[in-house]
Amino acid sequence: MKTRKLTVSDIRGRKVREDVNPLVMVTAYDAPSARIANEAGVDLILVGDSLAMVVLGYDNTLQVSIRDMIYHTEAVARIRPDVHVIADMPWMSYHVSDEDAVKNAAALIRAGADSVKVEVRLDQLPTIERILSCDIPVIGHIGLTPQAVYASGGFKVQAKQHEEVVALIQLARKLENVGCYAVLLECVPMFVAEAVTVRVGIPTIGIGAGPYCDGQVLVYHDILGLEKRSYPRFVRNYADLHTTSTEALTNFAADVRSQAFPDRSESYDSRKWTIGLQESLSQLDD
Ligand code: KIV
Repeated sequence: MKTRKLTVSDIRGRKVREDVNPLVMVTAYDAPSARIANEAGVDLILVGDSLAMVVLGYDNTLQVSIRDMIYHTEAVARIRPDVHVIADMPWMSYHVSDEDAVKNAAALIRAGADSVKVEVRLDQLPTIERILSCDIPVIGHIGLTPQAVYASGGFKVQAKQHEEVVALIQLARKLENVGCYAVLLECVPMFVAEAVTVRVGIPTIGIGAGPYCDGQVLVYHDILGLEKRSYPRFVRNYADLHTTSTEALTNFAADVRSQAFPDRSESYDSRKWTIGLQESLSQLDD
């Protein structure tokens, strides 16, 4: 059970053991979702660039800018959650130069994040080191990296070949060695995730990576079933808020049309203000 906001040192030591539970991470993009995540007692909130798809209606995450990420990180931080907040570095915020990467990571920290998440390829390790050298904690995101959707040819399970598994483990170890406090593993077979988890000293947080990770993350809108669509196999809907919300709005529309809403108890009673009003109105109508 979470008792206080986790620091990166707390998280770094959170490998699952007999007496240590997996970390719970959920995405949030605005004040209400952050408030709910906070009240639910999650360990980590990720202001993910998935907001491109679940909030802004794009087909992939490439459309969100650093300005969007700052705006949404500020909205989450504004409620002062008692939870470690991670902000995603969006596509093109760390690809052009290390100077850009550092400035953009710093902007997310100034917006209220406690650390940043970066989707990493091997050749981007120097950039990660540069961000870390400015005392900005980083969680490295490996496996399926959605910002590479066009280069990799789609959202597919990764590390199916032996060489890819070895490369994934080596990359996770390098992230640990340069100083990342955790690794996020997306869409890899569960035994590959396990192979990574047992070979690194920092926690692995999985999405679509099976049960043998040190933590799990899901997208807020997916947990709540806010969209009526087919979900990937790794999503578990814990509610059907699409149906609940549609029913609520349908009922509202019906009540307005039938004049069942609002009733008198939902209206301001102006009787005491209308003393003498009749007279003023009749003067108006003369
Ligand atoms: O942006 C996001 O929500 C993510 C998750 C897939 C973990 O990176």
